Amino acid sequence: MTALTASPEWKNLENIATQIKAQHMRDWFTADPQRAEKLTKSACGIELDFSKNLITDEVMQALQALAIECQVNKKRQAMFAGEIINHTEQRAVLHTALRNFSGKPVLVDGQDVMPDVLACQQKIQDFVKSVHSGKRKGYTGKPLKEIVAIGIGGSFLGPKIMSEALKPYWFAGVKVHYVANVDGCHIQDVLASIDHRETLVVMSSKSFTTQETLQNTLTAKAWFLEEGGTQQDIAKHFIAVSSNIQAATEFGMDAENIFPLWDWVGGRYSLWSAIGLPIALTIGYDHYRAMLQGAFDMDEHFQNAPMEQNLPMILALLGVWYVNFFDAQSQVLLPYYHYLRGFPAYVQQLDMESNGKRIAGSQTAVDYATGPIIWGSEGTNGQHSFHQLIHQGTSLIPADFMLPLNVPNKNAAHHAMLASNCFGQTQALMQGKTFEECKADLASKGLDDTTLESLATHKTMPGNKPSNTLLFQQLDPKTLGALVAMYEHKVFVQGAIWGVNSFDQWGVELGKELGNQVLDKLVNTDAELGFDGSTNQLISKFRKTNG
Ligand code: F6P
Repeated sequence: MTALTASPEWKNLENIATQIKAQHMRDWFTADPQRAEKLTKSACGIELDFSKNLITDEVMQALQALAIECQVNKKRQAMFAGEIINHTEQRAVLHTALRNFSGKPVLVDGQDVMPDVLACQQKIQDFVKSVHSGKRKGYTGKPLKEIVAIGIGGSFLGPKIMSEALKPYWFAGVKVHYVANVDGCHIQDVLASIDHRETLVVMSSKSFTTQETLQNTLTAKAWFLEEGGTQQDIAKHFIAVSSNIQAATEFGMDAENIFPLWDWVGGRYSLWSAIGLPIALTIGYDHYRAMLQGAFDMDEHFQNAPMEQNLPMILALLGVWYVNFFDAQSQVLLPYYHYLRGFPAYVQQLDMESNGKRIAGSQTAVDYATGPIIWGSEGTNGQHSFHQLIHQGTSLIPADFMLPLNVPNKNAAHHAMLASNCFGQTQALMQGKTFEECKADLASKGLDDTTLESLATHKTMPGNKPSNTLLFQQLDPKTLGALVAMYEHKVFVQGAIWGVNSFDQWGVELGKELGNQVLDKLVNTDAELGFDGSTNQLISKFRKTNG
């Protein structure tokens, strides 16, 4: 047994969970008309209603006691202070420095990183201005209107969802196309749709070693040269964001055209660095800065708000409650806002790459569940597909619903329907429908008793399914920045409780290594195959078709 599962705080939660499982949320709402009000907290433009959860005051206090036992506050302080908390890579974790508006220094190894951060922000500002004003031109003198942002993982998901979510703030006259996958269909389609003379390629790779990003950039470069550009013109059309300046320069990037980031910025936390340059190109620097400001406000809230009002803390504790004491294996994110449709995919990397771990501390295998599977898609679409399983299936799937109260479209009827669906879903999940209620509904249908009982059984909705509802006045850059930072900190708190290192990602390495070995055999078609039978067979079939 690990120290965590042996702790009195853990045991206490196990006991309370047994009692809670015998109760129904519906009865709590009836007994306490103030429940919704008491269990709603706001910060940074986000209102979190967590009243439709399987919680009582006792549960929340017991969860807070667990967080205290796990020294979450101390670990949080260590992160903001620039201590080496990513111990397997010997790195500080300071994405918060990238949105630090406090004017205070942030030290890494005794060195203030803020001057470099501010200089880079200035470089971003100047660059965006020069593109948007048309001052920076392509080699034929045309303005740069098509931005091809190449990157993958954290060098793609954050920038892409931010750009997408902020569509109402797009700078007119510039279009950003994101390309991540090494599947040649994507880059081919994008390049076929644009004019190379108006194209700016932003290659984003922290390591500058990522196969997909390097290949997509090489393909873009070859296309640029084929279309009529020359080697000399490349500097006007290709820029890079990387912490590996040497590799970027060796690749042929002009030193002037390289935006830096640092090893204390984790890949999935890098959108706040120059990796976010495509966001600034999409929405303009002022909106981009507002987004950073929103994230900073959330950082302040996370550090200063008491636990019972602290949004990231509340979300994290609820997650731990369901993962560890209700065997929830997944969590669903349901943005009821079309422009936020990419958010589940973004949180998927953030959460699953951070807390999809099985070693706590330096080498203890955990004996408890850690990071859940994150999934979801925009409402209302999911209601006509996977919501069936959330309502009546056998897994408990906690849901986060999200809805801006004001939307940038003039279709009031649509918005009311969207909101009614969102609220109606959380209500149905919570209250369900009893067998007796279903029977009463069917009473007038003239069915015989056996059919009526059978149908009522199938129609019964257990309810008692937990959900959070997150409301925003509108999803402006500042609120969006706060929303993303809130999930970052939620993931941090959960990692701190589970004792895992939320900032490395060794699990993705083996696949990359073997992929490279396989690539060698696909390219060198005479090379002998020495893998397992299945892999050898797959390679042979590929060789047969592709020569
Ligand atoms: O393979 C995982 C990963 O390293 C992520 O952590 C990262 O966000 C992504 O690849 C891209 O990495 P890079 O920015 O170095 O190209």
